[in-house]
Amino acid sequence: VKQVVITGFLGTGKSSVGRCLANKYGVRVLDVDAEVERRSGCTVAAIFEHDGERRFRELESDVFRTACTSSIDVVVTGGGTLLSEENRACLAERHAIYCLRADLCHVQQRLCGAGDRPLLEGDVERRIRVLHEARRATYEQWDQVEAGTRTVPDVARDIANRAGLSRAGVMEIGSTRRSEVHVEAGIIGSVAARALALSGTTGALIVTDSTVDKLGITESLADHLRAVGLDAHQATVPEGEASKSLQSLETLYGHCLRHGFDRSMTVIGLGGGMITDLAAFLAATYMRGVRLILVPSTLLAQVDAAIGGKAGVDVGGAKNMAGSFYPADQVLIDPTLLKTLPLNRIAEGAAEVVKIGLVRSASLFESIEKLERVSEFRERTDLVREAVMLKLDIVNQDPREHGIRAVLNFGHTVGHGVEAALNFEMPHGYAVAIGMVAEARMAAGLGLCDASVPNRLESILMRFDLPVTMPEVARDTVWQYMAHDKKRTTEHMRFALPTGIGRAKVVTITPPDAESALGVNA
Ligand SMILES: NC(=O)c1ccc[n+]([C@@H]2O[C@H](COP(=O)([O-])OP(=O)(O)OC[C@H]3O[C@@H](n4cnc5c(N)ncnc54)[C@H](O)[C@@H]3O)[C@@H](O)[C@H]2O)c1
Ligand SMILES: [Zn+2]
Repeated sequence: VKQVVITGFLGTGKSSVGRCLANKYGVRVLDVDAEVERRSGCTVAAIFEHDGERRFRELESDVFRTACTSSIDVVVTGGGTLLSEENRACLAERHAIYCLRADLCHVQQRLCGAGDRPLLEGDVERRIRVLHEARRATYEQWDQVEAGTRTVPDVARDIANRAGLSRAGVMEIGSTRRSEVHVEAGIIGSVAARALALSGTTGALIVTDSTVDKLGITESLADHLRAVGLDAHQATVPEGEASKSLQSLETLYGHCLRHGFDRSMTVIGLGGGMITDLAAFLAATYMRGVRLILVPSTLLAQVDAAIGGKAGVDVGGAKNMAGSFYPADQVLIDPTLLKTLPLNRIAEGAAEVVKIGLVRSASLFESIEKLERVSEFRERTDLVREAVMLKLDIVNQDPREHGIRAVLNFGHTVGHGVEAALNFEMPHGYAVAIGMVAEARMAAGLGLCDASVPNRLESILMRFDLPVTMPEVARDTVWQYMAHDKKRTTEHMRFALPTGIGRAKVVTITPPDAESALGVNA
């Protein structure tokens, strides 16, 4: 991976983008201006004032040159750093350089009022224009990243994706635990080393299902674990949702006890969402909580189930009735595992990727629109990564679903109704596809978004061979089931609805209004 250098004109948000990359993508970022200030103990403005620009440029060059040859992941330059030929000479093959660009009007908006910019004394607007003009040609030689019209997280995401930087996402859990999410082809090969690195681990239990077990990846994983000196065992439950049960849990506790595992053990969940939910609940509860590594092997589990810390089992036919919030120490997402996953299963996960794009990222949605076949998800690590990071971002803002996390329920209010009406025989992703189209049409009907939103959504889903209309048998009963959905408060129903491509909000609607907006019969 190359070292990333972020440059660009004053006021394009370089430092904010750097901070965002550090916080959300777990990369090490060095901000040249900030480092100059740290080393000298003075603000940039004070250095300009007391020692002059020349002195500042010397300090800046020192910091920049050291950073360029270091193992720092991202170097954020000052606006003028790369105007110096000597500094530019430090850039080499190992650097991926991105230049934030913004129209003059956006730059002016951001800079006017910012009082601590030493180069902008006097007639600010004029100074900005002159500087912008003088520096333009230099800046234009690098890869341009639009920053004027986009938010800082969008810009950061774009750079992370282009540079393949966002391999790790981080979720802080309280002040003591930290969950890391990595998306990388072949990362399954590092599970053993990572398990060993989790402090205190002596034994490991691989939890998987019968179908995944036949793929031949579990034995080699167990061998790796033993090779690094861990006491590794495997527990296999029958494939299918029925195994996400208290009975399975009891069997798994039995395995742990039989192998003499104590609190220093690590649970490794390798499989689809059924397994990641079950393994996470096992880890959350065995001896009041042990280490957990999740290796999701379906697209649905990679972009959804394994991210966000929800763990649980079904009880007496009720889905996810018993559970807890227990993010994994490590979520290791290996897109090469999707090679053996049947296309209909890829499509189920794709429905959730489309969902997150529609509610959160126009650029992801547009990338999905360009796909011709759903099978392309098997090769598009970048799209998987983007979907994962988007979900992680939302979950980080609202781990316990008090607010924004609810936008992830887009398509799910109707979707759950469809699932229930069909006795859970329709795959979740299919029900969500139907639900998304119904809810997007509802949003358009309510004037929240343009009719092109449901139309574009529908055409993607159809291309992926996902269903988009309510099955006849469900039509009459779906409403009854929806009205009993647990997310419904007594008087109002909550829907997460798109307000455009890449945007959504949660609205509460009275049941009669929702009913007529959806056009369902009670
Ligand atoms: N915790 C959450 O936030 C969350 C979110 C969404 C869904 N879920 C849960 O996830 C579950 C659904 O997930 P799922 O669709 O992955 O179901 P699943 O785990 O049952 O997997 C689907 C099928 O694919 C097989 N499989 C898995 N990996 C494979 C591979 N690499 N190659 C070939 N076959 C493979 C499995 O054996 C299974 O037969 C549900 O229980 C749902 O409640 C949880
Ligand atoms: Zn879902």
